[in-house]
Amino acid sequence: MKRPKRNDPCWCNSGKKYKKCHLRSDESGETAPPDTAGGQGRKPTVTAGKISPLLQVPGEIAVPEYAGTGTPGGRGRSCRKESEGEISGMRHAGQIAREVLDTVLAAVEPGITTNALDEIAHHAATSRGAYPSPLNYMGFPKSLCTSVNEVVVHGIPDSRKLLEGDIVNCDVTIYIDGMHGDCSETVPVGRVSREALSLVQVTWECLLMGIDVVRPGQLFSEIGRVIENHAVKHGYSVVREFTGHGIGGTFHMTPYVAHFYEPANKALIEEGMTFTIEPMINSGSPGCRIWPDNWTAVTEDLALSAQFEHTLLVTETGAEILTGGRNPWFLKG
Ligand code: MF3
Ligand code: CO
Ligand code: CO
Repeated sequence: MKRPKRNDPCWCNSGKKYKKCHLRSDESGETAPPDTAGGQGRKPTVTAGKISPLLQVPGEIAVPEYAGTGTPGGRGRSCRKESEGEISGMRHAGQIAREVLDTVLAAVEPGITTNALDEIAHHAATSRGAYPSPLNYMGFPKSLCTSVNEVVVHGIPDSRKLLEGDIVNCDVTIYIDGMHGDCSETVPVGRVSREALSLVQVTWECLLMGIDVVRPGQLFSEIGRVIENHAVKHGYSVVREFTGHGIGGTFHMTPYVAHFYEPANKALIEEGMTFTIEPMINSGSPGCRIWPDNWTAVTEDLALSAQFEHTLLVTETGAEILTGGRNPWFLKG
């Protein structure tokens, strides 16, 4: 990366002038703000906050099978192709998920609580006639997952305020007309370190590279192979405990989609399948620990983790991104 001049736009795409943004930290040789600094013996940057009472869903909104009991099942179907009607339903669900995610991401700024983001997600979904799929899925208490810094996945929105320098993954799933759409994006809170920015960009590239190899007749293991190669090339590691998944009338179903290379997995991708790719990439070791809340997964070494997710439909020649939209924050357009 070439160093900008003082009055040029900063290399980090913040839109600020270089002198107002990363100039000082570049010159001091400082590489990361103290709260995300490298090395072992890191301290957590995120601790559990207060979880607010359950939000209600208007009575006219159709709910998935687990909404009352918390237990998924019922119409769970394994690896299958979707019919034409289901496919248009999935397109619709994907686009609503995207709109909700964009609404949430636009609200991310220093000082906002993750609980406030959850309220925004909840309202954005229900005002569009959709059920926020995480709500009471296996007892999950919120409508959105917010995973900050060393939180890998399934962070529960709470009273913690986002701080300048954090990165936060917002993961939106919605259920509408019998179908789920699932997508997530990691965004910076104000100015973030060069390390954080690089991790987020490489994680995005991992998702794109995984999507790129999707076509009928392809091995599922190819997705994990290209993702793992790219992550490792940049000195990062791939989380193994959580995977992508089949999605449709059921939130999570087969196939499971590993983001690391599994040569023994001989399953083939077929036209008409709908599944997610959602790589979680760690800047340190790949291992995770789960908090006592039984949801929040954090990196075992407390190093940063990032994630992006799309829901895909396998077409005759490749993949249609059902949750597609504008580029992520670090790309133009
Ligand atoms: N959206 C997540 C995924 O990508 C799942 C969240 S499940 C929840 O699969 F219960 F934590 F919401
Ligand atoms: Co998913
Ligand atoms: Co998701």
